Amino acid sequence: MYGNDFGPTAQASGTDADTPPGPDEPLNAAEAGIFDDLIEAEQRIEPRDAMPDSYRQTLVRQIAQHAHSEIIGMQPEGNWITRAPSLRRKAILMAKVQDEAGHGLYLYSAAETLGVDREELLDRLHTGRQRYSSIFNYPTLTWADCGAIGWLVDGAAIMNQVPLCRCSYGPYARAMIRICKEESFHQRQGFEILWTLMRGTEKQQAMAQDAADRWWWPALMMFGPPDTGEAAQGGGHTQQSMAWGIKRFANDDLRQKFVDMMVPQAERLGIVLPDPELRWNAERGHYDFGPIDWEEFWRVLKGDGPCNAERIAHRVQAHDEGAWVREAATAYAVKQASREAVA
Ligand SMILES: [Fe+2]
Ligand SMILES: [Fe+2]
Repeated sequence: MYGNDFGPTAQASGTDADTPPGPDEPLNAAEAGIFDDLIEAEQRIEPRDAMPDSYRQTLVRQIAQHAHSEIIGMQPEGNWITRAPSLRRKAILMAKVQDEAGHGLYLYSAAETLGVDREELLDRLHTGRQRYSSIFNYPTLTWADCGAIGWLVDGAAIMNQVPLCRCSYGPYARAMIRICKEESFHQRQGFEILWTLMRGTEKQQAMAQDAADRWWWPALMMFGPPDTGEAAQGGGHTQQSMAWGIKRFANDDLRQKFVDMMVPQAERLGIVLPDPELRWNAERGHYDFGPIDWEEFWRVLKGDGPCNAERIAHRVQAHDEGAWVREAATAYAVKQASREAVA
């Protein structure tokens, strides 16, 4: 998913308890055996295959929350399209925001292969029954934020998403291959915005540094709460998702990989990451980093971030205003189908 910053409550069946039961009866022994063998052999599960209802529901929730994150994620940067500093920057930013809409489209389509309707998923987003990545509840205060989002947020998204290209559910894995290609382009363009600012005036450099200061810690939170060491004792979603071949690495391992990847990039940029405890640990072969403020994470997740209410209000308004487009597209599809039936 975009990140794992949805929190366990949103992943537990509690928050969307009204999820309709899957279309399947419980698997019989033969079906369960085929499913287990496919997972064991690292083969893909396809929509036609029998699958346990808990596997189906976990995927519906994960793919939907990923899709929601893609389309809510259009807002922080969409906010800067009219104010991008040049025509070139505006064209690039528009293309990026459109890419995110496309990612949402692939993912809602992947979720629909599991027997759930897109309208229903959007309704769950609009009514707070499903979440989106908590990172998008932070505001974009300056143009440099578009650079920091591309560099850090899309960077963290890639780290999370590349392993999903090998997810056991075929339609999700295939959607992720294209998404990852586009996300890596997003990360490069974010880096390039910051690169240009860091080679500009003192004011521009300060703006880039300030954006990195504000986005660094929330980007680390995107990998989700700790799930290794002591945190792994309680079992939980990470182990089950790993057993099903949906998740490939623990949140903490992905976070460490991200830090290790970003520190040299920050050095190239000339940006100082806002963590006095950040240093290379030769023994571990990784960078050590300071403690994450998980209280802030839970606060934002529970709805008390700077932009939670604004993001959903804007989304619902866009959905309502787009009703005529959906109606027109449906009417057109019906007309085409009836013409084909006659021909
Ligand atoms: Fe995306
Ligand atoms: Fe992106």
